[in-house]
Amino acid sequence: MADKARVAVLGAGLMGHGIAQVFALAGHGVRIYDTVAASLDQVRGRIASNLRDLGDDETAVERVRPTADLAEAVRDADFVVEAAPEDLAIKQALFQQVERHVRPDTILASNTSVIPITSIMQGLHERSRALGTHWWNPPYLVPLVEVIGTQWTWPAVIEWTMALHAAAGKKPAHVKKDVAGFIGNRLQHALWREAVALVEHGICDAETVDTVIKAAFGRRLAVLGPLENADLVGTDLTLAIHKTVLPAIDSRPAPSPYLERLVAEGKLGFKSGEGFRKWTGEAQAELRAKVVQHLKQARARDA
Ligand SMILES: NC(=O)c1ccc[n+]([C@@H]2O[C@H](COP(=O)([O-])OP(=O)(O)OC[C@H]3O[C@@H](n4cnc5c(N)ncnc54)[C@H](O)[C@@H]3O)[C@@H](O)[C@H]2O)c1
Repeated sequence: MADKARVAVLGAGLMGHGIAQVFALAGHGVRIYDTVAASLDQVRGRIASNLRDLGDDETAVERVRPTADLAEAVRDADFVVEAAPEDLAIKQALFQQVERHVRPDTILASNTSVIPITSIMQGLHERSRALGTHWWNPPYLVPLVEVIGTQWTWPAVIEWTMALHAAAGKKPAHVKKDVAGFIGNRLQHALWREAVALVEHGICDAETVDTVIKAAFGRRLAVLGPLENADLVGTDLTLAIHKTVLPAIDSRPAPSPYLERLVAEGKLGFKSGEGFRKWTGEAQAELRAKVVQHLKQARARDA
């Protein structure tokens, strides 16, 4: 793996600026591209402020070079990661443009949250060097990056990408089949589906769902995964529980009508002041600060 790779990040938003920060802090030169001038104008300031806040080497920001010229961003890159909006057509068009300007061996990655990488990369000429790298927000505080190969991706491309991310302090996880939602978002949204269903069916209110998770198995989740937990209590007990519980929990292959109704009524969560619950500006700021504080403490413990 190149000690000093040339990285290009496409999209300088929430995820793109954080991904650029991680690679710059690891010593790589980073070009960052966006179609919106305001995103590019702010990106170095955002990264500098994060580095300062985290007590990380503030000079890393000097390795990040914003550009509005896609060809310039990717021309010399060893690794290109796209963090543009979650829209298949935008991502497909972007990679087709990128392919005109990169070397044949430049690795191309998408940070899509849930779109199969196969759909994004199918139009490329060199599909063997394309894959998914799915980060979590904020990229500089959450360790995991899912690395997703398609049927075309060369194993060496996956290995190089896993090594690049591990050397930058991330925890890469190999996803062997390119399925929608990969691993993390499939697990997360299986839980969210049941959380919504519990409220929809009047079993409890939204606050109680969150309390039950945070005060019960959520307490253990960071150190005890579900399959470790199943082994800990015994697969026989797990089987007995599944026989009773699985027929009772939600398995509809579509979003809950309750969720559809919230959106139709304009109850969009923080951005409208009400979603499953009501949110004052103060309550929103308090919750955001609590999450960041928690993630910072976890990072400090890992160090
Ligand atoms: N927000 C999260 O928690 C999260 C987590 C993991 C993955 N993702 C995924 O990362 C991607 C980016 O999400 P985000 O939250 O950073 O969004 P964002 O809206 O904050 O940033 C997207 C950026 O892309 C820019 N952009 C728009 N069109 C572009 C184009 N054609 N080329 C280059 N840049 C373009 C926008 O100006 C914006 O700066 C999405 O695919 C999203 O699903 C998001």
